[in-house]
Amino acid sequence: MTDLTTGGKVLPITRWGTPVMHEKTRPVERFDEELHTLIRDMFATMAAAEGVGLAATQVGVDLAVFVYECPDKDMTIQRGVVCSPTVTLPDVKDRELDSSDEGCLSHPGGYATVSRPTLATCTGQDENGAEIEVVGTGLLARCLQHETDHLNGTVFGDRLSTRARRQLDKDVAGLDWRYPDDWPVSPKHEAATPSGDEE
Ligand code: NI
Repeated sequence: MTDLTTGGKVLPITRWGTPVMHEKTRPVERFDEELHTLIRDMFATMAAAEGVGLAATQVGVDLAVFVYECPDKDMTIQRGVVCSPTVTLPDVKDRELDSSDEGCLSHPGGYATVSRPTLATCTGQDENGAEIEVVGTGLLARCLQHETDHLNGTVFGDRLSTRARRQLDKDVAGLDWRYPDDWPVSPKHEAATPSGDEE
């Protein structure tokens, strides 16, 4: 099988507020070279930004596809692509929720607590149009929900209270200087830290 995780080009990451990020995307209909080039570029861009998932809208493309490279609850890294995803969550009565900090490469540097089910099943198609199912636990459960949200035009800030959203936006505005407009094509600026104070 073709390896689409290499050979891509790093693209600028689209930010929240750009219209493509807030509208429902088109389902994937053609599993062709153009799609494969997009997927390669998305893997390259996700790696450059050190993310665990990336939706097509985050590189400005109105198409329902995301890539991920993300640990599950056993800390095994799972990697793949889902076209036209649908997420299924356990019934409310069977659900366990995890309240952890969540961030987004399209609103870089900000984090806020979002409660999400600890198990998510994502169905859709692979890069060649074959039906697939990805069962996510741990961080991968959160990632599958976050990326599918993106393709439905929802960002995690939409899931926050007004107060939490305001704080998140304030945090991100304060860190804006670190992220060039074409980040991660241009690297982010490192924070000036007093000597000896780096982790
Ligand atoms: Ni995101």
